Amino acid sequence: MNYARRPGIDSEALRRMSERERTIFVATHPESARLARASAAHWLNGVPMHWMRDWSTPHPLFVRRAQGVEVEDVDGNSYLDFCFGDTGAMFGHSPPAIARALAQAGAMGITSMLPAERVARVGEKLANLFGLPFWQMTQTATDANRYALRWARAITARQRVLVFDGCYHGTVDETLVRAVPELKEKGGTRARAGLIGMNHDVGATTDAVPFNDLAAVERVLARGRTAALIAEPVMTNIGMVLPQEGFLRKLREVTRKHGVLFIVDETHTLSTARGGYARAQNLEPDFWVCGKAIAGAMPCAVFGFTAEVEAGMRRVQEDRAGGHSGMGTTLSANALALACLEACLDELMTPSNYAAMEATASYLSEGLGRVFAEEALDWHVARVGARLEFGFGAPARDGVESERAAWPELEHAIHLYLLNRGVLLTPFHNMMLCSPVTTTAHADMLLKHLHDCLREIGSEP
Ligand SMILES: Cc1ncc(COP(=O)(O)O)c(C=O)c1O
Repeated sequence: MNYARRPGIDSEALRRMSERERTIFVATHPESARLARASAAHWLNGVPMHWMRDWSTPHPLFVRRAQGVEVEDVDGNSYLDFCFGDTGAMFGHSPPAIARALAQAGAMGITSMLPAERVARVGEKLANLFGLPFWQMTQTATDANRYALRWARAITARQRVLVFDGCYHGTVDETLVRAVPELKEKGGTRARAGLIGMNHDVGATTDAVPFNDLAAVERVLARGRTAALIAEPVMTNIGMVLPQEGFLRKLREVTRKHGVLFIVDETHTLSTARGGYARAQNLEPDFWVCGKAIAGAMPCAVFGFTAEVEAGMRRVQEDRAGGHSGMGTTLSANALALACLEACLDELMTPSNYAAMEATASYLSEGLGRVFAEEALDWHVARVGARLEFGFGAPARDGVESERAAWPELEHAIHLYLLNRGVLLTPFHNMMLCSPVTTTAHADMLLKHLHDCLREIGSEP
């Protein structure tokens, strides 16, 4: 661990606190420790998915149940959850509407390779809520993004994709890149460091430019080789980076001008408002992608598209010789996922739920600002509806600035301190979500413990 000095934090106090919190965790989680040892016999890294090791805990934390805002572990400790499965459970854990849909639809046939009776009805509801006329369903947002990109290339007959540097759109190969300006003559992009088993040069198919840099976007699009720009309206995977005033509207203008399809990935920014960020800000995307919480945490994702895109898809289908399209997985659009999607649209994405999420998140955001001010920390809070992040220093303008401000040792120490006092933050950076059942009293609990933590490790200004 690197406990290097930075303003506002006493590095020695931080080191002492981290060590003490690790000891506390081990002492209070014996059953998790036992399960961690037993699981190591049959699971790679001791867990069924590698990122379950990304938490700040010395060994994995095993969960017995999660309900509403609460997660209970196998040692009987309970936690107020602000992570919500990194957005999957944004509308709360196991909401009654989803539990009911699972029980009812689960008893009536889960998958049949045929469209379920409710398909026409759900299509209409998606169109009404998100404002795009045509839809497809996948199991993950990763797949939805992957297919949107494939369609975009087929429709435009162009090969290249443009992303924002530091983006994350799931494990879609062509988006797993970073900008490397010194490699300009070779395209200025290369595969992200650390990718396992990558066998082709994704830098050769993708351009990456800084968020909020319209001139850089235009320079790439002017080359006439870009099929699609894929973007989150707010970067949420490298800390949180908000768009500058007018940036997204300009993006829409320049993509239209250059015949480039604009894919808006709202897998995280569904938190913004009912209907998502694109609807709230009238972004008019060509494709709109969302997964994670879209069906109340059931594996399900959707992508919507305009009538023009649908016409382009028809042309592509007519022109091709048949064979595998390279899109689709067997369980996509299964009847169970569809039932949960409908339940989520009807009963979770309601105006009153969004109003409650917004109100609590706004309360939490103000509280965080107060805590940082009292502790004389120049930290900031970024928020998009129910989703918040705090970051160190001033708000970042792009992914690189945000990445430079990150402070993993401090983040881990704070997360573990909070976890030991019954509050869960997302293990990646400092993200917090407010579900419809999160209250201001829950927010106060987080604020109190965070304040105590900062008092302990803060240094004199
Ligand atoms: C913006 C965004 N899009 C897509 C994805 C991929 O979602 P999934 O892992 O469910 O496929 C993620 C995952 O974190 C994401 O943050």
